[in-house]
Amino acid sequence: MENNSRPKWSTKLAFILSAIGSAVGLGNIWRFPYIMGEGGGAVFLITYLILIFLICTIPLIAEIVIGKTMQKDNVGSYHAISKNFRIFGWSNVITTIFIMGFYFVVCGWIIDYFFKALVNYKMADCAQYFTSLTSDIFYAPMLGIVFTIACAFFIFQGLNKGVEAVNKFMVPALGVIMVLLAGYALTLPNSIAGIEFMFKPDFSKFNGHMVLTALGQALFTLSIGMGAMLIYGSYLPKEEKIGKNLFSIVIFDVIFALLAGVLIFCSVFSFGMQPEVGPSLVFITLPKIFAQMPCGYFVAALFFLLLFFAAFTSAISMLEVVVATFVERFNITRKHATVLTSIIVVVLVTLASLSLGAIPSLKLFGKNFFDLFDYTTSNIMLPLNSAIACLVAGWCVVPKLDNLFQYKFLHKIVLFMMRFILPIILISLIFIGN
Ligand code: PHE
Repeated sequence: MENNSRPKWSTKLAFILSAIGSAVGLGNIWRFPYIMGEGGGAVFLITYLILIFLICTIPLIAEIVIGKTMQKDNVGSYHAISKNFRIFGWSNVITTIFIMGFYFVVCGWIIDYFFKALVNYKMADCAQYFTSLTSDIFYAPMLGIVFTIACAFFIFQGLNKGVEAVNKFMVPALGVIMVLLAGYALTLPNSIAGIEFMFKPDFSKFNGHMVLTALGQALFTLSIGMGAMLIYGSYLPKEEKIGKNLFSIVIFDVIFALLAGVLIFCSVFSFGMQPEVGPSLVFITLPKIFAQMPCGYFVAALFFLLLFFAAFTSAISMLEVVVATFVERFNITRKHATVLTSIIVVVLVTLASLSLGAIPSLKLFGKNFFDLFDYTTSNIMLPLNSAIACLVAGWCVVPKLDNLFQYKFLHKIVLFMMRFILPIILISLIFIGN
């Protein structure tokens, strides 16, 4: 397919909002607070902030630059750099497909929690409710499938009428709901204990494992390592400078994570709960808290709407990676590519969902499919693809371009990090972390 038939962002703002929409997701609101809770609060936060600004911006630049320079889908972009690099593009696509396999399952649960909050459904026992929901043989996979179809509907409309339209509405809405909820949490009694937990460091909690977790989280939250930023970058004009765009993406991603932290920890401490409970923080601990709050069902509905918008805008970017590649590689229409992608995702979502409780024997290498998809993508594929993006951008793409930034020294530092430092850090992460 010719380059001039590819869609383009209608404005620069549309790109920034969509990239923020991709970055801000379950990673910020569901995962960040619980791993920060487990990692000891403020010390984790400081480590995370240093890593996100100094280290993880580099692969983000690498992905955007590759897409923007090559103006093609993920496989096409790598292929245009070298025929042998096509596999790197496919690695992006496959990683994305497996991420969707577990991410969309969680998105399905969110739909259920949102509607339950709307009708003010009283859960007798939140933990038991969560277990029975996630292990339901029919309902749980159905929710994931409904979520997939909803995303596919918008993807199907194309870049401007689908991806952009969703992000232009949902990202500002996310901001408003987030500020309202975090503000409300601050007014709860004893909310200050939550703020102290987030911002008062206890350096005895610092350890190597925590640094690795923080690095993995920083990559995941910026949507790096599966080519979402590459495909979004490929719809930018070739001459676009990336400096300011990049800054907005990272800063907003961090602000959303911090506000989610304020919202969750102020609530948790105010109601005397434990912050270190892991993934069930949002699905078991918070509903318990909402049940005790004045107007709790309204707060709960807003919270799950927030989670839904965040998840939806990230999910859209994942689908776009695969759909754009199918359209441009197989020369099929967007409609057919969307249907094909959705079928693949539905199969994986069903497998992952059933493996959680309905059919516990659905296991491979001793792990259920949900954990297997999560583990292999987060711990192996994301850092590996990010290292590849840095190496390819650093050695093959950036040297042929003008300065990436206004300041020459910044360009040199970034290039050096892309070529040497990041690949070393990321590959070590795979070996040490596993
Ligand atoms: N960044 C998203 C989040 O924080 C997840 C994501 C990963 C989205 C990779 C797209 C690509 O939830």
